[in-house]
Amino acid sequence: MSWLSELARPEIRALKAYQHASWEPGLVRLHANELPWRAPLDASAAGLNRYPEPHPLELAARLATLYGTGADWVLPGRGSDEAIDLLTRAYCRAGSDAVLITPPTFGMYAVAAGIQGASVVEVPLRREQGFVLQPAAVLAALTPQVKLVYLCSPNNPTGNQFDRAAVLSLADRLSGRALLVLDEAYVEFAGQPSLLGELASHPALVILRTLSKAYGLAGARCGAVLAHPEVIELLRKVIMPYALTQLTIEAVLRTLEPESLVVAMQRVAEIRAQREWMAAALATLPGTLRVWPSAANFLLVDFANASAALQRSHTAGFLLRDMRAHPALPGALRLSVGTPAQNEQLIASLS
Ligand SMILES: Cc1ncc(COP(=O)(O)O)c(C=O)c1O
Repeated sequence: MSWLSELARPEIRALKAYQHASWEPGLVRLHANELPWRAPLDASAAGLNRYPEPHPLELAARLATLYGTGADWVLPGRGSDEAIDLLTRAYCRAGSDAVLITPPTFGMYAVAAGIQGASVVEVPLRREQGFVLQPAAVLAALTPQVKLVYLCSPNNPTGNQFDRAAVLSLADRLSGRALLVLDEAYVEFAGQPSLLGELASHPALVILRTLSKAYGLAGARCGAVLAHPEVIELLRKVIMPYALTQLTIEAVLRTLEPESLVVAMQRVAEIRAQREWMAAALATLPGTLRVWPSAANFLLVDFANASAALQRSHTAGFLLRDMRAHPALPGALRLSVGTPAQNEQLIASLS
């Protein structure tokens, strides 16, 4: 057992995983108390009267191929949200352990910690420095209680991607002390490639990927944890059996067919082009103070009068995300890049 397991909660290390009904697709299933008939109008391939595969192997293998890792380095789950929840529950003891986050950032890291009873150490990204990662500040704030250090790159909501070398050197400095959980939900839209290729040489690194963004499957709820097999094995004990529904498994496998992947990558290119168009158009509006550079599929924009911008866009039929509650983001709204027609209408509503 290496430090990757020793860092986890002792109860989880000792836990015996739930023994689910055996999975032998060629045989008639009279062992799981299911109904032998499909529900009316059930159009799924496998039939929703049957439990799905407890830990879907083909899906894990396809995700491993997509992400260029071994199958034992992947755990599919219900989006990155579930990955965050699993990591927190496996690694943080209630009432004593902590996670470290770099706000402004994605809210679920702190929420999952709160649910688990773990505390949250904050190392704010500095607005005046363009929200870049400060590895020295992270290391200075590290305590023995911190088990997970979350970095989101490209970061939601600031949109910037962290420097590769800075992330990797932080991963090395954390080795033996904490996991560096790198949330790459938006990396397909970014200029720099994913750090997935670095997993094997940086054992502290855990990467979260999702099919909710670039692959257009937010409604299916599917993402993956990519990490050293020891970490994956621990998380596999914590995840619910049958976490992914049969509908999700089938939808994801269809989306990972080569022809669907070509379309996904064309759409990523379109969103990137539209993002630049939007950034330029927003920058020319009189009410815009600043458009932050973005490596994601959204833009963070400072408005002179954010309330008015929200009101005008709402009247035109658009929902934007108000970010002003965060002290580093006064006047800021976050807007997702839409279709070209939607983007033009949004700009017109703000003009
Ligand atoms: C940075 C980041 N991570 C994770 C998620 C959640 O993704 P998923 O749909 O895979 O749960 C989001 C959703 O907006 C996000 O912005």
